[in-house]
Amino acid sequence: MVASTQDDGFVVFEHVQKSYDGETLVVKDLNLTIGQGEFLTMLGPSGSGKTTCLMMLAGFETATHGDIRLDGRPINTVPPHKRGIGMVFQNYALFPHMTVGENLSFPLEVRGMSRSDRERKIKRALDMVQMGAFANRRPAQLSGGQQQRIALARALVFDPQLVLMDEPLGALDKQLREHMQFEIKHLHESLGITVVYVTHDQGEALTMSDRIAVFNDGRIQQLAPPDELYERPRNSFVASFIGENNRLPGVIEEIAEGRALVRLDTGELIDATPVNVSHKGQKTLVSIRPERVEYKPEMLPPNAHLIEAEVMEFIYMGDIFRTRLRVAGSEEFVIKSRNTLGQRMLQPGERIRIGWAPQDARALDPL
Ligand SMILES: Nc1ncnc2c1ncn2[C@@H]1O[C@H](COP(=O)(O)OP(=O)(O)O)[C@@H](O)[C@H]1O
Ligand SMILES: [Mg+2]
Repeated sequence: MVASTQDDGFVVFEHVQKSYDGETLVVKDLNLTIGQGEFLTMLGPSGSGKTTCLMMLAGFETATHGDIRLDGRPINTVPPHKRGIGMVFQNYALFPHMTVGENLSFPLEVRGMSRSDRERKIKRALDMVQMGAFANRRPAQLSGGQQQRIALARALVFDPQLVLMDEPLGALDKQLREHMQFEIKHLHESLGITVVYVTHDQGEALTMSDRIAVFNDGRIQQLAPPDELYERPRNSFVASFIGENNRLPGVIEEIAEGRALVRLDTGELIDATPVNVSHKGQKTLVSIRPERVEYKPEMLPPNAHLIEAEVMEFIYMGDIFRTRLRVAGSEEFVIKSRNTLGQRMLQPGERIRIGWAPQDARALDPL
């Protein structure tokens, strides 16, 4: 019996490997199931294998090993124009000699659609990206952001079930990028399409995604929704790639279910939550988010761990204060405090006591 789409996932990577040169694997045993209607982001540093995965899913590259299925069917048995995949890339040039309308018409003509149907769909797609008035312009007469909107409209015009986007906003300035992030997110929600999105920008991934697959070195390091990825990174790579982290090196002194005692390299003993450490004597990096550290005693939980610190630098950032401290031998220990009523500004050289709840200190692998 053939498994139903529902059980199987809409997009499935099963034990996928890829080598370009027959020696090095740039994708190593990738297993990933993406649900229909999901916004899944592949996030990772340059060279981690994200684009390769997208190219294999699009059918432009073949997997060296393993299977990729789209809606229950192996991807390589479906001809490209029947895959129903829309694509947007960072430098996905529009055809320069064609008008915006002709650019959008092209994927519809390839599919043999009648003129009246084409016109209706082009109008709808342009309205979707708020470019309805630009059908007769040529790409050179549009700004970068407008061109990217047209590229998005062209990817959506033939009602694809799946849209692949590879760093589509990489060439835009910050403000436009953030605006487009919300637009793409809203289009995803209103159209109910499945999106596989590639970026190396963690903020972008956190803003847009239902789930994020964090890539490093050809492997998924963690696959989770944004909040889980941030709150419960599974290893030091994910903890340092997503958001900011204070890291204190040490050795596991005692370990039991849900609790570890860590001897820092500078001698202090601290409590931490064991994550991917398992035995006494093991090296670890204790990781603590800057916003989970408190210096006002009344704000600390009763079981807080307290430690001496010296203020190295205090930066007033408006909504938050960012303080760099010397803590347990590190001069890069950062805390972020909200600028609330009565919050005291610290002075360089000042000695303070800081603290955090033991569950916010996570004992991870030493990287
Ligand atoms: N067409 C290709 N031929 C040979 N090597 C490639 C090709 N495309 C990518 N690579 C290599 O594969 C690895 C992964 O690349 P890529 O998938 O582009 O990563 P990312 O998109 O995460 O930056 C890199 O080491 C890259 O140099
Ligand atoms: Mg890439």
